[in-house]
Amino acid sequence: MLSWLAGIRTIAEDLRQVRASARTPASVYNDDSRRIAGILAPRSIDVVITSPPYPNEKDYTRTTRLESVLLGFIRSKSDLRDVKNGLIRSNTRNAYKQDADDEWVWEHSEIQRIAANIEARRIELGKTSGFERLYHRVAKLYFGGMARHLAELREVLRPGARLAYVVGDQASYLQVMIRTGQLLADISKSLGYEVTGIDLFRTRIAAATRQQMGEEVLLLRRPG
Ligand SMILES: C[S@@+](CC[C@H](N)C(=O)[O-])C[C@H]1O[C@@H](n2cnc3c(N)ncnc32)[C@H](O)[C@@H]1O
Repeated sequence: MLSWLAGIRTIAEDLRQVRASARTPASVYNDDSRRIAGILAPRSIDVVITSPPYPNEKDYTRTTRLESVLLGFIRSKSDLRDVKNGLIRSNTRNAYKQDADDEWVWEHSEIQRIAANIEARRIELGKTSGFERLYHRVAKLYFGGMARHLAELREVLRPGARLAYVVGDQASYLQVMIRTGQLLADISKSLGYEVTGIDLFRTRIAAATRQQMGEEVLLLRRPG
């Protein structure tokens, strides 16, 4: 509790300092990044810098539940479900029957191969829980959701706009390797983006497999 309070005090102090020098107008939209067209004007954005979810089985609504309740974003179970519905599917706790983002990667053979490997591994290991049965589907829903976001985004970017996405490799689904940055680079290319770089800024060794896992910045450009 004390370290939590210390963290909050640091954030409050940072905000106080920023406020004194902030002259740049800023707008915050509390919305789903897969539905941008009605929110931002066409060809109005020059730069996107973001840290999107990874397919890492982390429920982001759980890590921020306390803040979400204290700030009044979530008052009931149905509010929580609405928030979850607006998120890119990156864990089995927010995958729903009616989800269809996987349609976006039907033709991506590498993602289909990874999903098939996850499911084959689950069967081989005899894992039968409801969540484990969803692993392969979440992998497809995740990349499909990111594809949907990148496709929507094209309309609001100015020609020549630059983008930076911080993403990490993952092996959360029965240790099947998912090279997130490389796969998002492939998807971006197929949507008409130029991939200007994949900068490695950190590696870590996965405890279970001893494999090198990269954390990268995927750099894109909207041609024109
Ligand atoms: C890897 S975390 C980045 C956290 C961020 N750097 C921060 O410090 O708060 C990914 C974030 O993306 C959010 N997210 C997931 N799906 C989203 C969506 N469709 N639209 C907007 N944000 C989304 C998650 O709730 C999570 O907070």
